[in-house]
Amino acid sequence: MKAQAPNSAAPRALHQDLLAAAELLGCVLRGESLATALPRLGTKDAAQRGAAQALGFEALRGLGRARALLACMHPKALQPPALEHLMLVSLALLSLPEPRPYAEHTLVFESVQACAARPRTRPARGLVNALLRRLQAQREQLLGQILPLPEARYNHPAWWIEALRCAWPQDWERVLDLAASPPPMTLRVNRRWGTREAYLRLLREAGLDAQAPQAPGLEQALILDRAVAVTRLPLFEQGAVSVQDASAQLAAGLLDPRPGMRVLDACAAPGGKTAHLLELADCELLALERDPQRAPRIEQTLQRLRLPGAELRVADAARPETWWDGRGFDRILLDAPCSASGISRRHPDIRWLRKPQDIPALALQQRELLDALWPMLRPGGRLLYATCSVFPAEGQLQAASFLERHGDALALAAPGQILPDRSPERDGFYYALFAKRADDPA
Ligand SMILES: C[S@@+](CC[C@H](N)C(=O)[O-])C[C@H]1O[C@@H](n2cnc3c(N)ncnc32)[C@H](O)[C@@H]1O
Repeated sequence: MKAQAPNSAAPRALHQDLLAAAELLGCVLRGESLATALPRLGTKDAAQRGAAQALGFEALRGLGRARALLACMHPKALQPPALEHLMLVSLALLSLPEPRPYAEHTLVFESVQACAARPRTRPARGLVNALLRRLQAQREQLLGQILPLPEARYNHPAWWIEALRCAWPQDWERVLDLAASPPPMTLRVNRRWGTREAYLRLLREAGLDAQAPQAPGLEQALILDRAVAVTRLPLFEQGAVSVQDASAQLAAGLLDPRPGMRVLDACAAPGGKTAHLLELADCELLALERDPQRAPRIEQTLQRLRLPGAELRVADAARPETWWDGRGFDRILLDAPCSASGISRRHPDIRWLRKPQDIPALALQQRELLDALWPMLRPGGRLLYATCSVFPAEGQLQAASFLERHGDALALAAPGQILPDRSPERDGFYYALFAKRADDPA
């Protein structure tokens, strides 16, 4: 049986996509990120990879619910693990609220096909059929049983739910619910190319529609009505536009680079904010990235956007003795490594990969980076601290403790904690902006 995968024009064999999605889920459950697992997927076909990714994302967004359903209907662990992964994907999809991407009978049939396609799982096809049909028949009763469990209701680990509930007593539920649906695709029109109105016209000519959010700092932003492959975006390869979430688009404007200023982007790959800084001003920019695999992406980003050159170095920003020439910076952007808890809907693997102990470890790294970079800022200069996190340890607590340690730092107006939202559509982010007192005796 063939089925239509979401966002795909050609009919596809759904059971193959289910198998590929189960393979992805297995990778994440063994501790590997989707970003590294996806390229290794046993297919060269871009459409199949896209379909498997879409199903894998959906399964990860519903993993808490699927696990609880499986535990309820079949408390004994399924063997081999590949069978359990397939079952979790199918349960996550079949238990989605209406409208579901596939007809129920198609999903059940194709799940059984997927199970039968591999010798090691083939003997369990009767069991797969029975479990999925039971969910079909007793949907309300089974969901009623599991949804009181926080992990099943919110599809995040219990420790994450608890951390959010403590930090944001008014908003935690809304934030978690938002992570249940796919994120929007947001564009940043390259100011050096033209206005967003001009690009909106190009989009409409190409049959794509978008909304222009009316909010300070988002003057170049467009939110597409539906996500498409970047190859469908007019003049993408010619550098007219980048894909960047609305919250991330605030960074460059907050830092306010001016022509000729010496600017440091301390954690730069893949270069989204580096590029935005250069779109705003012809500054003398140094971009650092510790990861040699990620660093080349900065150059690729700048070249595609036809932006003036920047100095790029693979270096550890926390160890200035290995790369700093002693000349101070007027502006420093620290887009720090973090839990990425603010972009959980965009990367649904993150919530299952992180462990509670990661948060203090990341906060320590951020603190070390802040302390290492601060002495390189010229008096009167600005440092922008940013994380795509919604945990206070990586946001306001980090900023408050920085101010306590550095008497020459002054907090300037900045958004502080941004929680994921629908109006305008945006991810969770944290921003603190510090100025260095010009009159510091040190
Ligand atoms: C949040 S991402 C940066 C995203 C980037 N600013 C953008 O907008 O496209 C953080 C980056 O910092 C890098 N990184 C982590 N620790 C670092 C360090 N000590 N020095 C330099 N880069 C670091 C990571 O490899 C990662 O690429």
